[in-house]
Order: sequence, then structure tokens, then C-alpha cells
Amino acid sequence: MHVQPSCETAVVAPPVSLRWPKEGAARVPYKVFSDAGIYALEQQKIFRGPVWHYLCLETEVNKPGDIRTTWIGETPIIVTRDEEGRLHGMVNRCAHKGALVCLKNKDNKKSLTCVYHAWNYNLDGRLRGVAFRNGVRGKGGMPEDFDLSQHRLQPIRTEVMAGIVFGTFSDEAPPLEEYLGDRTTAFLKRNMDHPLKVLGTHSQIIHNNWKLYAENVRDSYHATLLHTFYTTFKVNRLDMDGGIILSDRKWHHISYSKRATLEASAEYMQAQVHSAQYGSELDGPELLKAWDGFDDQITHSIQTIFPTLVIQLTLNSLAVRFFVPRGVDKTELYWVFLGYEGDTPEQEKMRVMQGNLTGAAGLVALEDGCINAFVQRGTHGSDDKASFIEMGGKTAESNESSRATEAAVRGFWHGYKEIMGFEQ
Ligand code: FES
Ligand SMILES: [Fe+2]
Repeated sequence: MHVQPSCETAVVAPPVSLRWPKEGAARVPYKVFSDAGIYALEQQKIFRGPVWHYLCLETEVNKPGDIRTTWIGETPIIVTRDEEGRLHGMVNRCAHKGALVCLKNKDNKKSLTCVYHAWNYNLDGRLRGVAFRNGVRGKGGMPEDFDLSQHRLQPIRTEVMAGIVFGTFSDEAPPLEEYLGDRTTAFLKRNMDHPLKVLGTHSQIIHNNWKLYAENVRDSYHATLLHTFYTTFKVNRLDMDGGIILSDRKWHHISYSKRATLEASAEYMQAQVHSAQYGSELDGPELLKAWDGFDDQITHSIQTIFPTLVIQLTLNSLAVRFFVPRGVDKTELYWVFLGYEGDTPEQEKMRVMQGNLTGAAGLVALEDGCINAFVQRGTHGSDDKASFIEMGGKTAESNESSRATEAAVRGFWHGYKEIMGFEQ
């Protein structure tokens, strides 16, 4: 669907002065993690700009009347399915005085009614009725020139790919498939283009700028160093076959590994790569009980879609993560754990069990929840300094033979610089 967003007065972010270091995406000025002016400019250029954003899963709005609320950056959004089966995206802001119209995460209704003065909207966002429009006993009410059709919930463009509903404020954003690129689209379909079943959701506040999480999920360098559980129990190690694939514009990435290549490796058996925990055993080995769901040997993958979407498939733990900026140093991270319709009860149990690896209280991902805050705190007050991101080279290219690289992190900054218009 493609609809014209309605005209409204744009709130212009304050001017920002930032000269990017001459090394380009291999350096990131720490100022971008704590500067309020840059944060405001991102809301305009990225979250209201020519970028597609995750809104929700199509399965969450399957039936007529289904409603899901979400965000694009700081802007609250509603996704609905109307009686004719069409999807709509719109800003969750009443056309009267701006109150939130939908208050629940999920709902099913025939129409949308604002609780403040009861203005009522169709599921496509058109205004249907205004309380006391004709006043009471002939007194009060709206002026004669009041026209219902001139007021509605602000629509946004939406498109669906592999069961995911994306939205954008911008008419300049290319069609979604073009925005994603061929390889991103193909891998997204591999993991997500199946009838999906939501197994559970949760969210957590992380105390860092949203871009530190965007970096962290592209940072294949840290995965086996910070997350010692991965290496100890051979879920993901850098000596497994694997690689990094960057999209054509470098904004999105896929990191993957093949567990069986390690287990089958004779050299590995002789020259084991030790971890701090080597020799540890799990009391509950069923945590890692898994089956091969695909025929490409990939057993661990993290896919990012610029700016704030992540799809993980670790063993059989499939999850969508998306993160929402909640201020310059605060981010809300949402997790949706998934299975496929048609999974056996045993397979579903394995997916739920493996879900314990990640999430707010997971064995692995809690480390990411705090490491980003360490960077937020460590860089505080160092606006004139920058990070050093040269592992695996200085450019942002795919590397299908090694994941000892920060190429995908550089890819993110490449996209960020481009869209923010920061000159070197
Ligand atoms: S703010 Fe919604 S009806 Fe008044
Ligand atoms: Fe991590």
C-alpha cells in the first residue's frame, strides 16, 4: 500500500555541528551517543526519513479488526487490519488534540475511539464521528464549516515482507524489496517466510543510546569473547565455518556460522580452542537440544535491517528483536520469540528452552544488556574523542571466510553517515 502522509508542520531539529573523522566509518565520534541535538536530528532524518522500519508481525494483525501498537523512533504508531483485509499504518495521535487513540499493545475492535472526547475513527484512520458535533439542544457544537473528511489519523506507508510489516513516513523511501536488497531479502525469507507462531514476548530497558545496540548486534568480533557460554558449549565460535554478508548499500547485514563444521573438524579435536570455562558441563543439557531445520548447515544467524531490527536464529531459537529510542541514553529492546505453525510439540519445547539463551534474563544476552551501558558510561564526557573500528580492515565489505571482523559495524556507520549527512 502506498498512501500520502498528510501535511503537517514539521518540527525542525536544532542545528548540529559534527565533523566526522577523516577515517570514515572506521571511527565513530563519541558525541553521537550523548548529544541531544544529534538525537533530535536522527528522529527527523532516520525515523521520519527515507528508511523502512519494523512495525509488527503480520500474524499479530491477521484478523479483521486486529490492532497492534508500536513505534517509529519516538512516534507512536497503530497498525490495523480492516474489514476488507487491508493493512493500515497510522500515527497513534488523535486528530483533535493529539491524545493516544489506542492504549493497548494489541486489540480487536470495529473502530478506534479516543478516550478523551470520544472522536471515532474507521480502522483505516478516517474520522467517522465527533461527539456533540451538533451541540446539545441546539447549542454549542462544531462550526458549520467543520468537515469530517478533513481530519483523520495521519497515515504512513506500509509494506509486508516475509511476514513482517514495515512502515515509513517517507515518500522518498524506495520500495521495500529494493531497500533490503537481494541477499537480505532472500535470508529474511529463509527464516521468516513460514506461517509464524508467537511463543512469547518480553521487553527490557537498556541504559544506552540506541546506536550502541545497533553496533552490538553487528559486532561479530565480540560474540565469542563476551559471551563465553557460546564458546564453551560450541553454540557459536569463530573457528566454525561462517561469514558476514553486507547488503549492497552496507546498511544491513547477516552473520552466520555452521556448528557442524566445528564438531566434524579433526584439527579441532587435536588443537582445541580453550575457553575460560573449558570442561564445564551443563546440568540440563536439554537446553541445547536442537534439530537441523535447514539444509544449508547454518546453525546460528543474526540478521540486521537498518536501523533497529534484528532477526536471530540461534540453533532453533527464532526471535525478532527491535529497539526503540527512549531518550539519548535509554533504549527499549523488544523480543518476540517465534516458532512455525506445524512445529511438533517437541520442537516447540526445544525452541522455548533455547530461548533461555537470549533475552533480558538469558544466559547470553544479559551480557549485551550491560556492555552497551558500559560504553555509554565510558564515553561520557569525551565528545572530542572517537572509537577505533579496524578489526578485519577499514572498509565495509562482506567476508564469507571470517567473522573476526567489524565490517558490519562499519557498514552501519556508513549508512548512518550517509543518511544523517555528516561530512568528513
Ligand atoms: S483528544 Fe481525542 S477526542 Fe479529543
Ligand atoms: Fe552480544
